[in-house]
Amino acid sequence: MDIFLRAFRTFIAFHLLFSYSLVDALGLDLRSTDSIKSTSRTLAESAIKYYDGNKPGGTPGMLPAVGEFNWWEAGALFGQMVEYWYYTGDNTYNDITKQALLFQAGPDHNYEPENQTRTEGNDDQAFWAFAAMSAAEMKFPNPDPKQPQWLALAQAVFNRQAGRWDSKHCGGGLRWQFNPLNNGFMEKNTISNGCFFQLAARLARYTKNETYADWATKTYEWMVQSPLISNKTYEVYDGFSFTEEKCNTQPGPVQWSYNIGTMIAGTAFMYNHTNGDPKWKERLSGYLNNAQKVFFPEQYGGKTMVEYACEGQGNCNKDQRSFKAYLARWLAVAAQLAPYTQSQIMPWLQTSATSAVKVCSGGPPGGVVCGRKWYVDQDDGTRDIGNQMTAMSVVQANLIKNVPSLADHKTGTSTGDASAGNGNRGKPTSADILATRKITTGDKIGAWLLTTLMVLVTLGWVAFLLSDRDNWDWIHIAYGGSTSHHWYGR
Ligand SMILES: *[C@@H]1O[C@H](CO)[C@@H](O)[C@H](O)[C@H]1NC(C)=O
Ligand SMILES: *[C@@H]1O[C@H](CO)[C@@H](O)[C@H](O)[C@H]1NC(C)=O
Ligand SMILES: *[C@@H]1O[C@H](CO)[C@@H](O)[C@H](O)[C@H]1NC(C)=O
Ligand SMILES: *[C@@H]1O[C@H](CO)[C@@H](O)[C@H](O)[C@H]1NC(C)=O
Repeated sequence: MDIFLRAFRTFIAFHLLFSYSLVDALGLDLRSTDSIKSTSRTLAESAIKYYDGNKPGGTPGMLPAVGEFNWWEAGALFGQMVEYWYYTGDNTYNDITKQALLFQAGPDHNYEPENQTRTEGNDDQAFWAFAAMSAAEMKFPNPDPKQPQWLALAQAVFNRQAGRWDSKHCGGGLRWQFNPLNNGFMEKNTISNGCFFQLAARLARYTKNETYADWATKTYEWMVQSPLISNKTYEVYDGFSFTEEKCNTQPGPVQWSYNIGTMIAGTAFMYNHTNGDPKWKERLSGYLNNAQKVFFPEQYGGKTMVEYACEGQGNCNKDQRSFKAYLARWLAVAAQLAPYTQSQIMPWLQTSATSAVKVCSGGPPGGVVCGRKWYVDQDDGTRDIGNQMTAMSVVQANLIKNVPSLADHKTGTSTGDASAGNGNRGKPTSADILATRKITTGDKIGAWLLTTLMVLVTLGWVAFLLSDRDNWDWIHIAYGGSTSHHWYGR
């Protein structure tokens, strides 16, 4: 008996020591720039552990495990690594970031690499374009002159997407997917259109070319008269489907943080580009006030970011787990470009950062890794690159007042190309493809086979994870057996 008690006590003591030392290692103090930087560095170290595309045999810019389906999240990750350098000055990851951003640009330098044909939507492409655009705005080191340049890459994506503007259905807008074989080709969604709006607004502010501003306005006006956005309450919904005959007008009721985030950033860029046009100010404030209600709920103190639609039920999917990272990054940008918003935004970023680090401790893939829910006091034990990105993003966003303003064509150094996008091959946009060909039965069977294959691969992967007892033991040790709801499903 005695020996069991002693063993138990040692075990508990060890567990406490282990977890407290990790929590102490973060020790975030928002009054100290050095502390925010070192916490960001610790979180970045763990975030990048999820990436192996730079290792021998890896594909630069690809995240492992769920293969091509998280291509977009890799674009988001490398965008965040560009921001990490801007916020902290730490260039540890600059080379792998540059390598990833150039490799996935693909042969036509427009972020339409052939490997992604069956999965890539306008929204996915936009997240890579944002990484390139941030690199231009933040003066991230330029690529070798023989390689594509940051600004030109963003312009290439803009040109591709402008070429896909679809005025034949529902009065305009972009489809979600641009490959006619992909699910989502008959849908128009907020993240695709909101990202195109944001990209156009950023290009307008950077280049001062009014063609981009006109596209931003046109996209915005289409969105607010569509079911995607309520032009009275600034509620932002996800998407709606349509047929050749009619448009579904019921997109709600769920609101996601990244959808309103992209509208906040886009309106902030337009506000700044127009030197404070009251029309854009009213819109920006409208989104911020709705974000207060929906994503910083009063019941949890009113300042901690919550992905309310899935965190409570614990069923956030792979994509959704990373959404808070984008709302955080875009709130920070809005605070810079529209300084009048700082008194509203900074308390959200501060409280959310302190709430986020309080649920970080140990676990796979090593280092200090974070749980998903920030509004609870205890680490929920889930581990995922999305969780990690959200915590890292909200912490580093607190450095927004310590960094130089985003550059534009006068202060920046990136070379543009207003006609970039089609590469050497003059690839048609999907509108051109549709005009010349119809979907055949062969295509449909191909798509079905591919789906079946992906399902089998996913099942195999889950089986593989569960069969690896080493993972189980490691988790058991790290959590002292106290956490029952971690992602290996024990
Ligand atoms: C496309 O996939 C092939 C095979 O996995 C790989 O060798 C190549 O590097 C990939 N290209 C890109 C741009 O990811
Ligand atoms: C506001 O939204 C409604 C409903 O979608 C739409 O009918 C109306 O045209 C919109 N107003 C403006 C100014 O966009
Ligand atoms: C535009 O952004 C800059 C910071 O980049 C800021 O100093 C300026 O005040 C902003 N303009 C307006 C109208 O708020
Ligand atoms: C402005 O942008 C448009 C759209 O890409 C382009 O066609 C035009 O050439 C640009 N104008 C200048 C002066 O660069």
